[in-house]
Formats: sequence, structure tokens, C-alpha cells
Amino acid sequence: MDDVRKLRTDDIDRVVARVATQLATDASLKRLVNPKFSQDHFHTALASATSSTWVHYREGQLVGHLYGALLDNPTYGTSVWIGPDGVSFDDGDALAALYAVAGEEWIAKGATEHFVWTLDDPTTTSAWLDLGFAKMHTRGAMQLHDGHHALVDGYTLRLGTIDDLELAIKLDDELDRAQSQGPSFSRGLSKSSQRDDWIETLSDPDTRHFIVEAEGVAIGQCVTFPLPDQRGSFDGTIHLSAVVVLDRHRNKGVARAMVDAALNDARERGFVYAQTNWRITNRQAAQYWTGYGFITTYVRLHRTIGIY
Ligand SMILES: CC(C)(COP(=O)(O)OP(=O)(O)OC[C@H]1O[C@@H](n2cnc3c(N)ncnc32)[C@H](O)[C@@H]1OP(=O)(O)O)[C@@H](O)C(=O)NCCC(=O)NCCS
Repeated sequence: MDDVRKLRTDDIDRVVARVATQLATDASLKRLVNPKFSQDHFHTALASATSSTWVHYREGQLVGHLYGALLDNPTYGTSVWIGPDGVSFDDGDALAALYAVAGEEWIAKGATEHFVWTLDDPTTTSAWLDLGFAKMHTRGAMQLHDGHHALVDGYTLRLGTIDDLELAIKLDDELDRAQSQGPSFSRGLSKSSQRDDWIETLSDPDTRHFIVEAEGVAIGQCVTFPLPDQRGSFDGTIHLSAVVVLDRHRNKGVARAMVDAALNDARERGFVYAQTNWRITNRQAAQYWTGYGFITTYVRLHRTIGIY
């Protein structure tokens, strides 16, 4: 007899144990997944999330759980976000039954965009793909080491400040333009928070903005900041994002030297790992990051509820 219902406090120990086992399995499949987490903190978090977590019992045995955070995201609107510790399932049927019940509540609350971060491995992705989800972003991680590539003649590197806001936005537009091309076809992205996001980024003392110039004009940039606590990621991880080099300056090692400098800077400040995300359809980026040394860990899947 199958029973999908909301989490009760007497289920919590069993859910915590499932997540611990699952993270250990994830780490055995992907060496840059961190299986360690505070079970006490997670227990407390679940205790305050009983109304947004579901459990699935089959013949008295717990065969899965599902938690989704309902968020008003500036880019994706009202949406549901499921992390690596937000779901476990013994088989595809267990996940399908959980998602059918939870999804009904999410949709009733206006959340028709559903996102899940899950291990980049068919053992977990295939059950989601069978529910109509598609791969959206890949997360890659690497252990930091001494990067030794220098910029070729004619290029210089400097750190940015808030005074570089306009050029940061201009280069960011170039990144969006590149991703609006096929096969990514990432179009219709809302720009409403772009300026505020960059102001926040450039004003944050923990964030570093690296700019490459040619003849005094900015032609490339990237940003680093300490990764906040994230399930499956190691402490001491620097996050790398917003990497772009203008078209006519590509394939000259500009990004390689800029990223080496950004990651060397992080290593000197005590960081041990780096992490970045790329769009699954951005094949140039996928090739670039795996060539640089990033190893995939998790993948973000996405589903839009509709007539499709
Ligand atoms: C991805 C991107 C940042 C790379 O920038 P870049 O400056 O061209 O990168 P590099 O020159 O360091 O390396 C690019 C390639 O040129 C090669 N290369 C490096 N130096 C070279 C040189 N002197 N001569 C010829 N090739 C060279 C590299 O080996 C690399 O090959 P690979 O992609 O097969 O690994 C750039 O293509 C870009 O801005 N793309 C659009 C935005 C984007 O997708 N950003 C990533 C978002 S996740």
C-alpha cells in the first residue's frame, strides 16, 4: 500500500539517514562531492519544513522524500527549487508518486517552473528525465593548483571596482548575447535585476572582479566570491562566474590567463576548491571548463508546467 503524505517529526531521523547515505553514494561516484554535513542542523531544518516536505511509504517502508523551496525568483518568477538533500527515492515510481502530490501543491501556489540539482549521473537523472525534466546547468568543481599561464603581449589584467559598473554590464551583455545564439537559444531573459545585481557584486568586499584590457579597453572579465554553504560542496570553495572574453580576442589564451590569475588569488587567500556552473547547451563553455580541469558534480534539471 503506497502512502504519500507530509513529513511528521517522527519521520525525520529516517530522512536524515537517507540523505547521509545518498551523499555518501554521490561522493563515491563523483570525487568532488563532499559527503559531510551537519546531521543536527539538517534535522532542525527538516523540523521547520514539515509543511513543505513529503514522504513516501510503501508497505510501511520509507522509499523517498521530497522538499521544494518555493521562491519568488527575479529571473524565473514563482518557482520551486529542490537541492541535493531535498529528495531521495528508491526507484522511479517512488519519485513519480512524490512529485505528483508535491507538484500539485506547488502548481496551485503558482509555481510552474520546477528546478532540481541532482548528481550528474544517470542513476539519479534518468528518473527525473522520465518525468519530463531536462538538463539545464552543469556544476563543475576542481581542487586549486598553481595556474601558470600569462597573458600574451598586448593584454593586461587588473582588479575592478564599483567604478567599473558600466563596463561590467556591457561585457555581461556580451555573455548573454553569446548564449542567445544556437544551440543555447537562451532568449527572453529578464534584465530587470542586472544592474542591481552588478552593483551588489561590485560593492561586496568578498567579491573580486578581474578585468582584462587591450589598449586600455576592457575585453574580458570574471568574478570570484566565496561559495556560501552548499550541500555537496566543500568548505573553502571559491565560486567563479560571469566569465566572458569578447569575440575577436578569443582563442589567444585570454580566459586561461585571467582564470589562472583569479584562482591563484583565491588559493593565496586560503581557498582549496573552485566551483563554476555552465549551461548544458553552451558546448563551447562545457568543453572549455572540462578542458581547464573542472569535473562535473551536479546537474540542474528544469521543467516548465504547461501543455508541452
Ligand atoms: C569561454 C570563453 C570565455 C573562452 O575565452 P578565450 O579567451 O577564448 O579562452 P582561451 O583562449 O583561454 O581558450 C580557448 C581555446 O583556445 C585555445 N587556446 C589558448 N591559447 C591559444 C592560443 N594562443 N592560440 C590558439 N588557441 C589557443 C585553448 O586551448 C582553448 O581551447 P579549448 O576550448 O579546446 O579548450 C569565450 O569563448 C567566451 O567568452 N565565450 C562566450 C561567453 C561564455 O560562454 N562564457 C562562459 C560562460 S559559462
